[in-house]
Order: sequence, then structure tokens, then C-alpha cells
Amino acid sequence: MAAPLPVCWLNGEFQPLAEARISPLDRGFLFGDAVYEVLPVYGGRPFLFVEHIARLERSLGEIRMRPPLSRADWAGLLTELVARNGGGDMYLYVHVSRGAEEGRNHALNPALAPTVFLMAAPLPPLDPAVRDAGVSAITAPDQRWGRCDIKSTALLANVLAKSLAMDAGATEAILLAGGRLREGSSSSVMVVREGTVAVPPYGPEILPGTTRDLALRLCARAGIPVRVAPISEAELRAADEILLGFATRGILAVTRLDGAPVGSGRPGPVALRLQALFAAYRTELAGTPLLPA
Ligand SMILES: Cc1ncc(COP(=O)(O)O)c(C=O)c1O
Repeated sequence: MAAPLPVCWLNGEFQPLAEARISPLDRGFLFGDAVYEVLPVYGGRPFLFVEHIARLERSLGEIRMRPPLSRADWAGLLTELVARNGGGDMYLYVHVSRGAEEGRNHALNPALAPTVFLMAAPLPPLDPAVRDAGVSAITAPDQRWGRCDIKSTALLANVLAKSLAMDAGATEAILLAGGRLREGSSSSVMVVREGTVAVPPYGPEILPGTTRDLALRLCARAGIPVRVAPISEAELRAADEILLGFATRGILAVTRLDGAPVGSGRPGPVALRLQALFAAYRTELAGTPLLPA
């Protein structure tokens, strides 16, 4: 991640990020008791705003919190944060923790006011060499908790899995459990075989991905067949193409898995098609309102 942009919003105020402060008794800090979102912004407009806020609302509901702001308030604040940081392309980080405690108590305290923190960071264009060559990934055992469908800031197992990828000179760790594909340490994984895009079904073990959901919608529009079913490790290794989906980068082709080439060893036709469909969809949304009227 590039260094964040200078203006953030914390608990009701725009302020310089360098001066923003929270209590060390914040439950996000003490317990990882917080959820978050990351949204890309193209041409000053947050992308898939409703989808991201809906996922945030779902995460909050699953951890027994009410949304601290309405969708209209989120839209207004995020739009202003983008403008105050100079507009253009960037990404936004949205973080809601259960708030600052009076001590260190596991038990929930319903009287706490949540901590709401928004910041922005640059979104440099994807290096054409990366897009053209694809990226490498490793496989790793999924060592996360049982509610990976909640976008929690408690990401230690994801962080350690990403470190394994970095150690191997790879971009992503693709997590496996019980001989089946789950997802990447910070991405959804899609597998292409004979022209069909396959994804594992959603459940408590993976995060519903906004990029994956859009990819499947664009596949449906373009007549690309989709299959939602468990994917074995053997199917992953035999794939013609492996695609990563994540909000800050859209679709990336994995061209090496555990050191072996995936398919031809180059980004395949479905990766290239989906990347083009994503670019066209961004253009289609430009200038449209964030919230339906
Ligand atoms: C574990 C995990 N899965 C999937 C995703 C992809 O989600 P999205 O496409 O909404 O970025 C992410 C993104 O951060 C993630 O951390």
C-alpha cells in the first residue's frame, strides 16, 4: 500500500491523518473487535458503493452492531473525503470498531459509542508488466477462524499467510482446507476450466467478494458459463486459468502456482476478457449516482 493521503475522517471530523488519535482502550485495538471495507475510487467516484456498504452493514449485524451511519451519510462523507484528498483514482478504507472501553472487558458494553475511521490512499495504475505476465501464488493451509464471511479487522492468520507468499516471492497465498479451495489471503479465487468460471459457494469459511460478484454478473451478461460448487485442490492445480478478484486491483491472472505454470503460463482468454469487461463497466458507471434515487 502506498502511503495514505493526508486527510482522514475520525468520529465526526475531517482532520489530518497525522494528527488522528484513538484511545488505546479501543476494542478494535484490544480485541480486533472491528469490521472494515476497502473501496476503490475511479475518477472521484467510489466504485460498487452500495455493494460495499451492504457488506459492511452485514458484517456489523453479524457482530451485533448497528450501522453507525445511514447509506446517504456514508455516500456524502466518502465523496467529501475523496474531494478533500484531491479526487481522481484512490481507494478508501472504512473502519468501524465497537468503541473505546472503560477497561479491558471481553463482555460487550452496549453503552459504547463506535469508533468510525475513514482514510484514503493512492491507487496507482496496475503495472502493465504485472497485467501482461500475471502473478504467482502459493497454496497454504487456511488457519483462520470460523466466520471468515465477516470482514473483521482481526486478520492475523491472513497476514501470516501473506507473509508465506512474500517469502516465496509470490503475490498471494491461496488458502486450502480439507482438500478444497477457499480463497486468497486478501482476494477471492476463481478457477477457469474449458471456458467455465468456477467458484466455491459462499459460507462461513469465505468472504463474499464484491469483485467476484461483479465478475460473475459480467460473465452472465457476456454469456460466459459459471459454476458455483466446491473446488478440489486437484481441480485448482489442473485449472486452465486461476483468477484473483479484489477491489483494489479488479481481476489478476495467476500464472504460476507453487512454482508450476498455470495453463499456458500466460494470462488466459477469460482473464483478459474479464479485465476488459471490468474496464468497460467502470466507464458505464462513471457519472451515475452512488445511491439509487
Ligand atoms: C479474505 C478476502 N477474500 C476476498 C476478498 C475480495 O473482496 P473484494 O473483491 O470485495 O475486495 C478480500 C478483499 O480484501 C479478502 O480480504
